[in-house]
Amino acid sequence: MFLWQLLSVLFVGSKKQQKPKYELSRYKRGDLLEVPRTLFTHFGIYLGDDRVAHLIPDILPAVSRNKGAIAKMVTNQRLLLGVISKVASVRVDSVADFAYGSDVLVNHTDKVIKRPPLDGDEVARRAEKLLGSVTYSLLWYNCEHYVMYCRYGVAISYQTYQFCTAVRRVVFSRTSAFLTALGGVGALLCAGCATPLALACTLLVSFTVWMAA
Ligand SMILES: *[C@@H]1O[C@H](CO)[C@@H](O)[C@H](O)[C@H]1NC(C)=O
Repeated sequence: MFLWQLLSVLFVGSKKQQKPKYELSRYKRGDLLEVPRTLFTHFGIYLGDDRVAHLIPDILPAVSRNKGAIAKMVTNQRLLLGVISKVASVRVDSVADFAYGSDVLVNHTDKVIKRPPLDGDEVARRAEKLLGSVTYSLLWYNCEHYVMYCRYGVAISYQTYQFCTAVRRVVFSRTSAFLTALGGVGALLCAGCATPLALACTLLVSFTVWMAA
C-alpha cells in the first residue's frame, strides 16, 4: 500500500483544477513536447493535428483485447500497474490527454543536448514506426529514451543519468558507509528478534532490484 502511494506521488502528479488551453499552432510535426509530473518528466513527439506519440506504462494492452477501452486515456491505475509489471506502449493521444493538465514545454531538450535534432518529418516518422507495445524499464527504457531516439537518434535519458549519479554519490559517501556498517552490527545484534523487519527489508530490496532492471 505504501509503495503504491509512493509510486503515485512519483509518477502521477496532481491534475490541475482549471484546464490550460493548448495552442496547437505552437507545435510543429516532430517537436518534442515535455510535461513535468512531480519528480519525473513525461515526454512525447508531436505528430500534427493534435496527435502526440508517447511511451507510457500501461497494463491494459497486456490483459485485454478491448481496443475501445485501450484507446481511452491511460488512468493512474493502469499506469502504475504498468510500471510495476514493466509493460508499456507507445500510443497516440491528444495534446490535452498527453499533458494531463500541465503546461507543455516545446523542444526544451534542444538546449541541453549537444546534438542537433533530426529533421522534423524524420522525427515524427520514427515516432510513428515504434507505435505499439514495448517493454518498459524505469531506468533503461522509459519515455525519455523513446523521444531522444526519435529526435536525436540516440536513446539516452537524463533522468536516468541524474538518478544514477545521485545514487552513486549516496552509495559511495562516507556517511552511507558508516550507516551500512552500523546497520550490519545492528542486524547481527537483533538477528533473533527482528525477523518481520528482515522480511520487509528483503521484500523491499527484491522489489527495488526488479524495478531497476
Ligand atoms: C522545435 O524545433 C524545430 C527544429 O527541429 C523548429 O523548427 C521548431 O520551430 C521548434 N518549435 C518551437 C515551438 O520552438
